[in-house]
Amino acid sequence: MRTRETWGTRAGFIMAAAGSAIGLGNIWRFPGEAYQFGGGAFLLPYLVAILTAGLPLLLLEYTIGRRHRGGPPAAFRRLAGPAEGIGWWQTAVAFFLATFYAVIIAWALNYAWFSASLAWGEDAAAFFGEDFLGVSEDPLRFGHYRPGILAALVAVWALVLLIMSGGIRRGVELANKICIPLLVVLFGAIVVRALTLDGAAAGLDAFFTPQWGRIGEVEIWLAAYGQVFFSLSIGMGTMITYASYLRRGAELSNTALTVGLSNASFELLAGIGVFAVLGFMSARSGTAIGDLVEVGGGVAFVTFPTVLAQMPGGALVGVLFFSSLVIAGITSIVSMVIVPLASVEDRLGWSRRRTLALIGVPMALFSILVYPAANGSHMLDAVDFAVSGYGLILCGLATIVAAFTAGRLPALAAEANRTSVFRIGRAWYACLALTGAVLAWTVAANLLDQGRNLYGEDGELDPLILVNWVVGGVSIAFGAVMGFVMRRRPLPAEPRGEPALDLD
Ligand code: TRP
Repeated sequence: MRTRETWGTRAGFIMAAAGSAIGLGNIWRFPGEAYQFGGGAFLLPYLVAILTAGLPLLLLEYTIGRRHRGGPPAAFRRLAGPAEGIGWWQTAVAFFLATFYAVIIAWALNYAWFSASLAWGEDAAAFFGEDFLGVSEDPLRFGHYRPGILAALVAVWALVLLIMSGGIRRGVELANKICIPLLVVLFGAIVVRALTLDGAAAGLDAFFTPQWGRIGEVEIWLAAYGQVFFSLSIGMGTMITYASYLRRGAELSNTALTVGLSNASFELLAGIGVFAVLGFMSARSGTAIGDLVEVGGGVAFVTFPTVLAQMPGGALVGVLFFSSLVIAGITSIVSMVIVPLASVEDRLGWSRRRTLALIGVPMALFSILVYPAANGSHMLDAVDFAVSGYGLILCGLATIVAAFTAGRLPALAAEANRTSVFRIGRAWYACLALTGAVLAWTVAANLLDQGRNLYGEDGELDPLILVNWVVGGVSIAFGAVMGFVMRRRPLPAEPRGEPALDLD
């Protein structure tokens, strides 16, 4: 009987799970969202979202993974037969997420290099859009590859596939054991530098000053839930997959708490660093902080480079900053790529070598062919929204609904309680129900919004919404078709036994 590989140590698993969670989403998405949605007042909905959605769902995914021991399709099949399609759907979402996430890492890699000479000069915005991305007018015009992005992207994929080829202990766990401490040191240095800049205090003020008047807006609550969801890497089967490599006796609830808190701390740290820097820039240029902040890629690749060019020691800070983006990104993308690989291995019994060749390599090629082109950043935005606006949220909702309708929640709670430091019960069900409602609401709000903007000023269907729906439709169709095709195919024997000497 085959034995399933397990994490070498408890710390190894925690680092990998935290490494998945701490990513580009923490460093740039969080500060921008917090600022946009009420500064210090955002922290309350954010905290509520962590407690009511983040931790309960994290625990749900851990428990499904540890109990049913497989990538999402096998795990869902064992959880509730017909739910297997959800696992394949998550596999497709993971595919799309990983293929564009790699590109942002490739951008950061380029910028780490540019930083050494502050290559963007006076006008960082023009440099980013025109010289670096060479963005095309027409979002559907493929071709015109950017050599710098292409080369970095090939390097990123080579590294990711290399890590995956090492398996769990000598691949994912080792990579995280190297990257996470490095990330903490690099990022800590940046934050210290940022806090010693003139004007830092004004930046922190802008970040933390609560706009309590806005706390009743639904939008803010949806944004907080969305941020927590993306940031903790839930909804996509990543945590089911990671937990499937746990030993059966591994503790779960305290682990979820540790991962959730590490992720939130890192997020706050990033917010503090970013806003200290913005405060400096505002003091320099006399522009109000509010006019400096753009949300999304603009902050990392435009605002920040502009500041670096004016800051004493900016070149060094730039190298450190963009390197930390790369490192944080690598530990996250590894957790996305593992989903399709583990899905096929555990459902069809393929070897890692075979999944790498037949799934990992084509995935890399798709990423390399689509995104380094001149319309790549348009594609990236559209696919990003398909994934973060719908894919993750719907998959997370489906996970809750499947576990509930199959009547498996009590069994899962008992499974978690079997080894956990603290027991879960009714409060956990209530949180899952609440989360399900918030997720359904978010999807409805996004759909309404898109419906309103469906046709551009020229009366043509917006091409980006079209791409968005194609990506969403393909993912769902893939899940449905695979669920149907596999319905009679028996699962490979469940791996049994655990390495005898693993007693940490
Ligand atoms: N949490 C990561 C970030 O903050 C992104 C991420 C990694 C992710 N794996 C995921 C998001 C799985 C959703 C699902 O950047």
